[in-house]
Amino acid sequence: MPRQRIIAANWKMNGNLALVDTMTSELNNIKFSDDVKVVICPSFVYLSALSAKIANNNIKLGAQNISEHASGAYTGEVSADMLNEMSASYVIIGHSERRSIFGETDKQIALKVKFALANGLTPILCIGESEAERVEEKTDAVLSQQLQPVIDEIGIESFKDVVIAYEPVWAIGTGKTASPEMAQETHQFIRQFLAKNNAEIAEGVSLLYGGSVNAANSKELFAQTDIDGGLIGGASLKVDEFKIICSAAQGS
Ligand code: PGA
Repeated sequence: MPRQRIIAANWKMNGNLALVDTMTSELNNIKFSDDVKVVICPSFVYLSALSAKIANNNIKLGAQNISEHASGAYTGEVSADMLNEMSASYVIIGHSERRSIFGETDKQIALKVKFALANGLTPILCIGESEAERVEEKTDAVLSQQLQPVIDEIGIESFKDVVIAYEPVWAIGTGKTASPEMAQETHQFIRQFLAKNNAEIAEGVSLLYGGSVNAANSKELFAQTDIDGGLIGGASLKVDEFKIICSAAQGS
């Protein structure tokens, strides 16, 4: 079965109600092929507004983070129940900004993935190496260290419901993209790492590339064998550019 192709928009702490309006009015009219999903991940406060405006079955709503707790005295956090109530069906977990700025650990990220799955949300698990780690040829080791705690926590079978985004930290927001060949090589490593645990599951997992994806480079990146779409930051805030990236995933 062909893998699900996904273009996920990570708005980060950007966007406003005007962007909710323009993005939905432009994207709602596009006829996407069945194997493509577009997932828009705004700030929590815009989930409800987006949810009300999405009118296209291929467009889904996602959050940028989730608490690993069900409810309680966790000021500033957002629970799985709340995301479900807002009609979110995806959640980005372990983005490099959450890891480096907010100190999220591999263990905490694994617990968030488990909690999201237990509540019917599809995690978009982010992994990726820093520039120094790439230079020191530690990429494979770093990715393994980020993946293993999640495999230990949820079991490899649960990866049938997980999306993985490979985002080299040095390519995020920098304009430096991994070459399609480099990205493919790393995606292949990730799939093979999963395959050591379960080949069938590994074959079905959608692997997204993220890091300075734009209208000009998306088509070649998405054409790689093990790249099933992208996690798009800056370019997902520009409607025309984002539409081109979405169409690159459709192979058109
Ligand atoms: P970028 O961000 O496309 O702006 O590099 C990607 C991301 O951080 O998810």
